[in-house]
Amino acid sequence: MSGPIAKDTILAIKPYVPGKAKVPGFAAPLKLSANENALGCSPAARAAYLEAATSIHRYPDSRAAALRSAIARRHDLDPDRIILGAGSDEIFSLVCQSYLSPGDTMVQPQFAFAAWAIAARAAGAKVTSATESNYCVDVDALLEAISPSTRVVFLANPANPTGTLIPFCDIERLHGALPDNVVLVLDAAYAEFAENVPGYEDGMRLARTTPNVIVTRTFSKLHGLAALRIGWGYAAKPVIDVLERIRLPFNASAPAQASAIAALGDEDFIERSLVLVKAGREQLAALLVKAGLEPLPSAANFVTALSRRDPAAAQQIVSGLESHGVIVRGLANYDMGNALRVSVGTQEEMLIFEQALSSLQLAR
Ligand SMILES: Cc1ncc(COP(=O)(O)O)c(C=O)c1O
Repeated sequence: MSGPIAKDTILAIKPYVPGKAKVPGFAAPLKLSANENALGCSPAARAAYLEAATSIHRYPDSRAAALRSAIARRHDLDPDRIILGAGSDEIFSLVCQSYLSPGDTMVQPQFAFAAWAIAARAAGAKVTSATESNYCVDVDALLEAISPSTRVVFLANPANPTGTLIPFCDIERLHGALPDNVVLVLDAAYAEFAENVPGYEDGMRLARTTPNVIVTRTFSKLHGLAALRIGWGYAAKPVIDVLERIRLPFNASAPAQASAIAALGDEDFIERSLVLVKAGREQLAALLVKAGLEPLPSAANFVTALSRRDPAAAQQIVSGLESHGVIVRGLANYDMGNALRVSVGTQEEMLIFEQALSSLQLAR
């Protein structure tokens, strides 16, 4: 039976593969595969969510005015230049739909967040990946990859799946060499975990002052609201006005808006989360070294480690950990088959991870 035929450009897209959440034989496996907040979310955000449950028969505020004001206050921004998305993922899509036509090119680093290329290809564009230098974004390679057909450049800082960052001066240099008709998307999903790193900035300085930079942020990571799908972007007003034309009217749910406002105000939860991630990264790196892997320096809430000597070992460790009910992420579909990525867990979770990892070493 013949059915509708989708566009070739859509059929060529490989669907996004999320971090695994289940393993056979374990009712409650330990999930360290999706860079979530191991502490959960702010109690105030959860209370706001429950409170919002009393009015889920009402449409949300389409303009998310209260949340945009809360974000603007916290980050000292103009609320009229903030756009809300169902996760920052949706904002990537809005940018690609708005600025990429068939035949255009999107440029990204070699090890890139998978949702960007999906969004670009869905708009009919081609994707060019610029080689990285020792798993760090290489601004010169990105610039070399720019061609007259380039309309959008994506970059995450800190990056996923590597966890590495580049100094803001490199991003300024990249931006300085880009034509004005190219949109530079600075994906700052992990920005809060890098804020104390010397030379780091989330890129907001460029978004405030230039016509072609959008910085995206999310409530999914530090704030632990991944299930609510809420993220935002900041750019020059003309860019926001373009994206607003195609943003679906009620894309940010009322419970998500309410919880996000509460999350922004919960300093205690934010501080506890940052402390956990800082200690957890160091602990994870040490454990991965002990297991014979080479961790990359991480400025995010996860650590990625390579197995350079025995490229197959990373995937063997991923499978071995799963047999102990511990899920970490193998990075084969990020073109890093010799690597795995582990999200920071609570102290108890890190202990379970350590025990599972050392039992694998004993078994080898
Ligand atoms: C670099 C990067 N950007 C964006 C996202 C997605 O964020 P959101 O949940 O806001 O769509 C992720 C999630 O893993 C990510 O790693």
